[in-house]
Amino acid sequence: MKNFLIVANWKMQLSYKQTLMYTQEITNALEQEAHAATIVICPSFESLTEVKNIIKGSCLDLGAQDCSTHQKGPYTGQVQAQSLADIGCSYCIIGHHEARQQGQTDYQIARKAHNLLTVGITPILCLGESQKSPDFLGEITKQLDHFLSLSAVSLQHLAIAYEPAWSIGTGLLPSPEHIEQVFGHISNLFVGAGSSFKLAFLYGGSVDSNSIKVLRSIPHLSGLLIGSATLDSQKFKNIVRSCITNYL
Ligand code: PGA
Repeated sequence: MKNFLIVANWKMQLSYKQTLMYTQEITNALEQEAHAATIVICPSFESLTEVKNIIKGSCLDLGAQDCSTHQKGPYTGQVQAQSLADIGCSYCIIGHHEARQQGQTDYQIARKAHNLLTVGITPILCLGESQKSPDFLGEITKQLDHFLSLSAVSLQHLAIAYEPAWSIGTGLLPSPEHIEQVFGHISNLFVGAGSSFKLAFLYGGSVDSNSIKVLRSIPHLSGLLIGSATLDSQKFKNIVRSCITNYL
């Protein structure tokens, strides 16, 4: 099974030059491992084209961290989904908690997903409760409302990354049972809406090579969205190795 998905979200942690140097380092470090899983690196917009050149011929894939809600037009500073496709992005993160905190709405996130699907990019739709609450499933249901009204072209791929806000960058992880409950709930929502997406369920929030041993017991987990631990090549390599040992 090659399609266990490991997505590295580099956020705005590296400058343009640092991104290119680190991409080269990681491409060399993961040369062997990358053949056994799908590894997607998501640098910031300005480095996408050059990162694509560096990873050409390797088994790494390219993803973006966001895109515009609009397809084109007078929207200063925004990036078209079509441009991401032209550059060679196969994936794009949308609805990340940090972007939601800047005011992005569920409706806007659904429009981004639509734009990405139109140009053949797989959205990585992030969702999750904003704080610990007994009604975490209610909040997740609400986050998916607009999305579920999108008419999917039959069997389009969609990655859903469950990232509870309280777990991002904190070292705190939900239990495997909690994560599986969320995956089951989302699955039911898609079935209930008659949706024909091919879903991949990812978990994100404080993942490192140690947490993978715990996460492996989650039956429907098919990938990970990882931030800080992918910014150190040795840690990144350990994570990939650990995934290969535990999942493949
Ligand atoms: P983290 O970030 O792995 O540093 O917790 C995850 C994310 O924000 O996607």
